[in-house]
Amino acid sequence: MFHSIGMRLAGWYAIAATVTLACLFVVGYQLLYTRMMRGLDLLNHSEAQQIRAHLGPDFAQLGLEEIDQRIRETTEFASALFYINVHNPANDIMFYSHNLNGVAIPDVKGEHRFNAEIPGVGPVRVDEYVRDGIDIVVATPSTQVNAALSDYIEICVALLVAMLIVSTAVGYGLSRVALGPVRSIAETARRIGSDNLSERMPVADVRDEISDLARLLNEMFDRLEVSFNQIRRFTAEASHELKTPLSLVRLHAEKLLVEDKLLPSQEEALHILLEEIGHLDGIIDQLLFLSRVDAKVTRLDLATQDPEPFLRSFIPDASVLAEHRGLRFEFSHTGANEIRFDAKWIRQVLLNLLSNAIKASPARGLIRLESRVDDDGWRVAVEDHGRGLPPTELERIFERFVRVPGTGYDDGKGSGLGLSICRSILDLHGGRIRAENIVPDGGLRVIFEIPA
Ligand SMILES: Nc1ncnc2c1ncn2[C@@H]1O[C@H](COP(=O)(O)OP(=O)(O)O)[C@@H](O)[C@H]1O
Ligand SMILES: [Mg+2]
Repeated sequence: MFHSIGMRLAGWYAIAATVTLACLFVVGYQLLYTRMMRGLDLLNHSEAQQIRAHLGPDFAQLGLEEIDQRIRETTEFASALFYINVHNPANDIMFYSHNLNGVAIPDVKGEHRFNAEIPGVGPVRVDEYVRDGIDIVVATPSTQVNAALSDYIEICVALLVAMLIVSTAVGYGLSRVALGPVRSIAETARRIGSDNLSERMPVADVRDEISDLARLLNEMFDRLEVSFNQIRRFTAEASHELKTPLSLVRLHAEKLLVEDKLLPSQEEALHILLEEIGHLDGIIDQLLFLSRVDAKVTRLDLATQDPEPFLRSFIPDASVLAEHRGLRFEFSHTGANEIRFDAKWIRQVLLNLLSNAIKASPARGLIRLESRVDDDGWRVAVEDHGRGLPPTELERIFERFVRVPGTGYDDGKGSGLGLSICRSILDLHGGRIRAENIVPDGGLRVIFEIPA
């Protein structure tokens, strides 16, 4: 839940607001408590003063009966409000108010104003008034004050809960607003790829941390776009720069051959030269293709079509190629469905697989091409009856420049790029390609699939 900054900010905000409010409430409670207790203390104190005044200056000479009478004269009318004890200097109780029913008001040593609990009466606030050797203890019930304070606490708790909820909601809303620019930066960043490098983050007019960040990212994208464009231009120009001199070399070699003034050994050397040039030309084409795929500048010319007519046009070429090497070729196709693919590139894949199968096949071997179209998509398998591959190499052969020696595969002119090109082409189609050994007959089966 707290994985998003927005939620965390909202949480912190809510906690800060609620704690502040709680502090205010605690201070308020203290104030209220002291105020109310002081009110009770004043009442008690004036009652005690009144009693003292009524006892008169001759108090020391009075008997218990008289003291009792004098105090009752002044206090009886307030018996609902005050509980009274009077002590003599020896701390003997000389007077109990009626409402105490003979129970003494508890004493707290060293305190003159304190809270206490009288059995049968409940919580009270007590005032001890000591003058001229007489000790008047007046207590008044604090139940009302306590009730008011607990009401206060209840209200505070309810308000705190409300505050927590409201501030969480407000905090969440605020953080969403504050993080809005970050979200739109993230969305743009997700959209920016090699195919739309010119897109930029939205930058707010105000100058703040987030707009600075967006500006920085935009500058970074400017630099990236420049270098990307350089790479694109390089791949386009490298093709021209490499291939033009190469075709000139080929042209001159061919001219020499035509002139027919060469020794047989020279002529043979020229043939080898021409063959190697053809080979080099092929490798340059393959490398350029791969670098274009890497730079994501290769665009497919996708068309939705049933693969059957496409295959039918490919098969004659394939069987000619195979038969030319003295190999047998079989073809089967089942099902019908519309598949989106680029015929030119899939033809390239098929040619690569076929030429590999030819190179792997023993003399008079059989090469089979099986194609099946159904609701899921299109699946093509090319099988040969060579020696197959060690299981560890089945995945590796799709990496660049990987060639597996000692498997009876005739890789005299192989570059090790054919299968990586096939994989790139299938990636561009959203498809897959893999290889497996044919058991138990031996041979390799390379399968590619394109989803419908
Ligand atoms: N049908 C096959 N049977 C056995 N090995 C194969 C087969 N196809 C490919 N390979 C192995 O995979 C390697 C890579 O193939 P590939 O990328 O087409 O490069 P190349 O054909 O130029 O060598 C080959 O060198 C070969 O060792
Ligand atoms: Mg190959």
